[in-house]
Amino acid sequence: MNTVDAIRTRRAVKVYDPTFPLSREEKDELLQLALFAPSAFNLQHVRLVEVSDPALRAQIREVGWNQAQMTDASMLVVVCAKLDSWSQNARRVWEGAPAEVQDYMAGAIDAYYRDKPQVQRDETMRSCGLMAQTLMLAARAKGLESCPMDGFDFDAVARLIELPENHVIGLMVAIGRGTVEPKPRVGKLPFDEVVIRDRF
Ligand SMILES: Cc1cc2nc3c(=O)[nH]c(=O)nc-3n(C[C@H](O)[C@H](O)[C@H](O)COP(=O)(O)O)c2cc1C
Repeated sequence: MNTVDAIRTRRAVKVYDPTFPLSREEKDELLQLALFAPSAFNLQHVRLVEVSDPALRAQIREVGWNQAQMTDASMLVVVCAKLDSWSQNARRVWEGAPAEVQDYMAGAIDAYYRDKPQVQRDETMRSCGLMAQTLMLAARAKGLESCPMDGFDFDAVARLIELPENHVIGLMVAIGRGTVEPKPRVGKLPFDEVVIRDRF
């Protein structure tokens, strides 16, 4: 499937075939594709928690509005991010670049993030969104369906997945074989309302 078709046909699908398996290799291929998503300063803030333990999936569903996707989809990914990537990985992610580039990036990253908790958090959310969409489009390109989700108790899921300090959860993504045709798209706002030419 080409990219345009993947974009056009991706829908938030809620009903999955619980017997449809994805192999470890197939899941890892999707995760590898997702990791091509861009990140500010190449900091790669995102950490992807692929939840395959059925008991853990059931516990997540209990704190996730009882959404069936959380247990029934072939794959469930909690898209998390590391808040302190800017201080921990600034040099690491530019290894291999010329020394002057490494020095420039280290300074620029520090200036951009230091003492700015809102920026630090905003960056993780931007990265999680881009990663999630890349993952969903990769899945769609392979004929699979997906559903992004933030309908869950974030603190409870953080406890269940043992989210480390200095990490946040952005959202979850379920992937699998849908069993119900998605309802027609509704309520799309007019193009001219959401696309602004030059200035608001
Ligand atoms: C951040 C985010 C959170 C969402 N949370 C949920 C959710 O918890 N459960 C769900 O069924 N759909 C969820 N959705 C899916 C939206 O309802 C869906 O994308 C929207 O209605 C548009 O439908 P479409 O994606 O099929 O075009 C979420 C979407 C986004 C982007």
